[in-house]
Amino acid sequence: MKGLVLAGGNGTRLHPLTLVTNKHLMPVHDRPMIYFPLQTLADMGITQVMVILGGRSIGDIVELLSDGQEFGLDLTYRYQRGSLGIAHAISLARDYVGDDAFCVVLGDNILRGEPMTEIAREFEDGPWGAGTLLYRVDDPRRFGVAEFDADGNVVRFDEKPSEPKSDSVPIGVYFLRPGAFDVIGKLSPSGRGEFEITDVLNHYTNNGGLYARHYAGQWSDAGTVTSLLEASLQAAQENR
Ligand code: DAU
Repeated sequence: MKGLVLAGGNGTRLHPLTLVTNKHLMPVHDRPMIYFPLQTLADMGITQVMVILGGRSIGDIVELLSDGQEFGLDLTYRYQRGSLGIAHAISLARDYVGDDAFCVVLGDNILRGEPMTEIAREFEDGPWGAGTLLYRVDDPRRFGVAEFDADGNVVRFDEKPSEPKSDSVPIGVYFLRPGAFDVIGKLSPSGRGEFEITDVLNHYTNNGGLYARHYAGQWSDAGTVTSLLEASLQAAQENR
């Protein structure tokens, strides 16, 4: 399985912290934010990883991560022009991925606790076309939100709905196969002008093609001032 870390976008929700630098370089306790998604992939046993870069100070990210040896990874970089959405960023990895299944981790997502090796293997060996992990949050409106049928299966995801159908959100970990590139190729931008990952996942929900289950570890994103602070405090507590 190959890995993909998305570190594009403009980080506008962290202004003024990210006015002159890249969100993924922000400290989360004692290390730069982007170390966390790289570690998540390394912990799955994945070694070949493409980092999608965009926004400011991308040279600093390359200088920081170099060839990835410190993480036991073999890193490749690709530039995303503009901030056209998570699905658009994923589409840039088509040639890199080739025929392999792959795991995407968003550059601002922080996971601890439940080991992911088994989850990755289960997806890779299974029949699903796509997969994600769910997490219960207090404020679902700022994420994608899952809607379930009576049996507890996900029937669809809504991106940042004003009236969430549940408190379970897809975290920024996506398991995909090369078929996803054709799905992305047929998408239209959403109302906010982005190619949405939730539209990709929705393609797979109808026919049992989606792997989805709740993540048993601890998850946060670090994309807002409050969540960045909380992620730092959680990381500090864990290191104590
Ligand atoms: O964190 C989980 C949530 O992430 C999911 O629940 C949502 O369904 C999903 O859309 C996403 O929502 P966010 O609003 O948090 O996404 P954000 O725009 O903050 O982007 C997350 C990461 O993806 C960010 O660290 C950089 C990367 N990115 C984003 C965009 C828009 C790119 O690499 N390129 C892009 O064009």
